[in-house]
Amino acid sequence: MTQRIAFVTGAMGGLGTAICQAFAKDGHKVVAAYHPQFDNKDEWLKEMEAAGFKDFVCVAGDVADIESCKAMVAEAEAKAGPVDILVNNAGITRDKMFAKMEKDQWDAVISTNLTSLFNVTKQVSAKMAERGFGRIINISSVNGVKGQAGQANYSAAKAGVIGFTKALAQELATKGVTVNAVAPGYVATKMVMAIREDVLKSIVDTIPMKRLAKPEEMGALCSYLASDLAGYMTGATLNINGGLYLQ
Ligand SMILES: NC(=O)c1ccc[n+]([C@@H]2O[C@H](COP(=O)([O-])OP(=O)(O)OC[C@H]3O[C@@H](n4cnc5c(N)ncnc54)[C@H](O)[C@@H]3O)[C@@H](O)[C@H]2O)c1
Repeated sequence: MTQRIAFVTGAMGGLGTAICQAFAKDGHKVVAAYHPQFDNKDEWLKEMEAAGFKDFVCVAGDVADIESCKAMVAEAEAKAGPVDILVNNAGITRDKMFAKMEKDQWDAVISTNLTSLFNVTKQVSAKMAERGFGRIINISSVNGVKGQAGQANYSAAKAGVIGFTKALAQELATKGVTVNAVAPGYVATKMVMAIREDVLKSIVDTIPMKRLAKPEEMGALCSYLASDLAGYMTGATLNINGGLYLQ
């Protein structure tokens, strides 16, 4: 397999870690983008080293801030080379029923989960097109596909991710650059495992497969989407949700 440079946002979170590991196993050079206030880089690097992953390049920044994204991608290019694979994975939730949702909860989720795609993709997509190869993978959610009470902000942002994916896929279709969205159901990350046991059980009961997704299952899908042989798939939204929602 050709070695590529992969840039993963939210790299030190649950899905991000699995995606970084999948790309490293594929032989790619991985740039792990993290938020200096939310992530503990040194601890994460130690954990990765213990798991046998020694070569991650780390860059810090805020995906909600375009100037920070410019600096973060420039640093990645200087340390690793031009970005071939981008995974827009960083995301947050600020759940509230709409009647009680505050404007700052709306703004935080839209800027971190949706505007971030503009901020980061803008730094790499034209250069991918010039070089004639690129893979852009945007992490959406089952709740962006079906909507979820208590998540008007998150559902709107994650549905926006799908619209962005479809539009950009068409713009880049002749340039060797594919753009796809992944819409996971509930993944067994630290965040999901921290949900109260009875609440988590009631969620799992609604999933036809009666289990959560493994983070590695998300990594494997991203690994495929980033591969050369995925070159004919673009503008797609891959539902990976254990049958929770079928379109
Ligand atoms: N865990 C699930 O079940 C699930 C399901 C569907 C979709 N998703 C999506 O998958 C993605 C990853 O989620 P996760 O479960 O791994 O969450 P997580 O909280 O473990 O990781 C998210 C990462 O994003 C980073 N981040 C947050 N705001 C940032 C900012 N402004 N700038 C830079 N980095 C920032 C955090 O520091 C963290 O490392 C998210 O987009 C999430 O919406 C998760």
